[in-house]
Amino acid sequence: MADPLFTISSTLRAAFAVVTGLPPEEIDPVVRPSDRADAQANGALALARQLGKQPREIAEAVVATGMLAASCSVTEVAGPGFINLTFKPEFLASELADAAGDERLGVRLAGQQRTVVIDYSHPNVAKEMHVGHLRTTIIGDSLVRLLRFVGHRTILENHIGDWGRQFGMLIEHLLDLGETEGAHELSVGDLNTFYREAARKFDDNDEFKDRSRRRVVELQGGDAETLRLWHLLVDESMRYFNQVYAQLGVLLSNDDLMGESAYNDMLAMVVDRLRDQGLLQHSQGAEVVFADGFVNREGDPLPLIVRNSLGGFLYAATDLACIIDRVERLHADLLVYVVGAPQAHHLNMVFAVARMAGWLAPPVEAVHVAFGNVLGEDRKMFKSRTGDTVKLSDLLDEAVARATASVREKNPEMSPSEQAEVGEMIGIGAIKYADLSTDRLKDYVFDWERMLAFDGNTAPYLQYAHARICSIFRRADLERASLGSIVPSLAAPQERALALALLQFDTTVHDTLDKFSPHRLCTYLFELAQAFTSFYEACPVLKDGHEATRESRLALCDITARTLHQGLFLLGIEAPERM
Ligand code: ARG
Repeated sequence: MADPLFTISSTLRAAFAVVTGLPPEEIDPVVRPSDRADAQANGALALARQLGKQPREIAEAVVATGMLAASCSVTEVAGPGFINLTFKPEFLASELADAAGDERLGVRLAGQQRTVVIDYSHPNVAKEMHVGHLRTTIIGDSLVRLLRFVGHRTILENHIGDWGRQFGMLIEHLLDLGETEGAHELSVGDLNTFYREAARKFDDNDEFKDRSRRRVVELQGGDAETLRLWHLLVDESMRYFNQVYAQLGVLLSNDDLMGESAYNDMLAMVVDRLRDQGLLQHSQGAEVVFADGFVNREGDPLPLIVRNSLGGFLYAATDLACIIDRVERLHADLLVYVVGAPQAHHLNMVFAVARMAGWLAPPVEAVHVAFGNVLGEDRKMFKSRTGDTVKLSDLLDEAVARATASVREKNPEMSPSEQAEVGEMIGIGAIKYADLSTDRLKDYVFDWERMLAFDGNTAPYLQYAHARICSIFRRADLERASLGSIVPSLAAPQERALALALLQFDTTVHDTLDKFSPHRLCTYLFELAQAFTSFYEACPVLKDGHEATRESRLALCDITARTLHQGLFLLGIEAPERM
């Protein structure tokens, strides 16, 4: 087990058992990180209460067993009965060697393997993807990587907006443009123009409006020609979205498409089931469910509208169908929605109704992984200079161009193709990291200078730390694989600090996933890179004539590089070997 807190917990459990006579499995030693030492154990307090003894007495007896001596250099009873623990370097070194010998770097699999459906990215057909879709796509991608890494069966669902009344006008506009021209506009990502033109005609032109309305009826009625045109809109938009996904290097593919239209056949059933359970009510001609615990400002119950007065099924109906499908067909027990914060109310009401209907019952859980906005330098919503939605592909192109320029400047000797390759990793990495490294619920300011800086909490800083270690290995000219089995000596304080940081990887990964908050992993990687920098400044790796020190330090370099690489991978960020 990599995290020394786990190892020391089991030692402590055994010691508490000896002292109290209780079976070890009934004891919680309550080990926590500590400011004063490496860790503290607070278990004596609860056990003393349980046994009617003095906590300090129990704590002192635990220390007196001598069972902690192998792993701790200092064990000191403080306050009402805390045990402060300082780990021995030999203990940390052997924990570290265990992690280094493990492909997973000591990261445990989840105790309980779940089937997770994660709903993310979900752009809308024939509409530009905006920076909000960038956020859900990047955060979702990182969560997928984390979920898979700890062993959950993870199903990706791209719940694209591919259905609704707007498709009448979109299809008619496509016909007006001519199929070839219209399809071209969409596939090259000129979605703003397409959508706006269609909407403008709908507002200004009664004949167009009539056609559009008839078209919606035909679409809903399954008219073959209309469906063909609808498919064309979906396919051409997906062609563009897939280009953005490829540029971003996210895991989504067409296999993960599960758009709103996929649930059409279930919507009537949703309403029937709600009615059968006596949950469905009529309110102003619409069919609604009053969700437990939701009231408006006046304190009146709030309805979730499932079907409007014209008989049309609404967004909520689709989301209820989604829950049924994910739970009953896919047997998911964790539903993750990576959706912007403004949809919190909608999702919470949908979850509440699904709970009332018994579709979302423990152990099945639904979690809204919400996120804030991307802001421009003026601290308003991020827009292009002309006030338009920023095209994601333009944004990504610019990131890569800027990063490639700085790679070229820093590495004139590098071949142009390598410069381009590295520039792409840095540019895309910078955009992703800037997004992932802020607490997802907060807004952040999109700032080119900051995200591409080589120092500070940025992707280039972490990528550079990794590349620097790779260059040490190039200079050392040795087989890295052999280093995994070395137990490093942790004589210098910087070596010890680096080891402690490395041993936190396991806990960090689990903690990040528990909170669905990739910024925790980012903070960790940043601190790890800083610990490495301090180590590297204080402890010469290659200059030392002493063979054992050299090997030991190289082993520390190796596991640091692997941890950075794996950590960045879990964020969806590539780590070049030179930059
Ligand atoms: N397509 C929607 C949008 O762009 C988001 C869909 C979120 N997922 C869901 N199951 N409601 O706002």
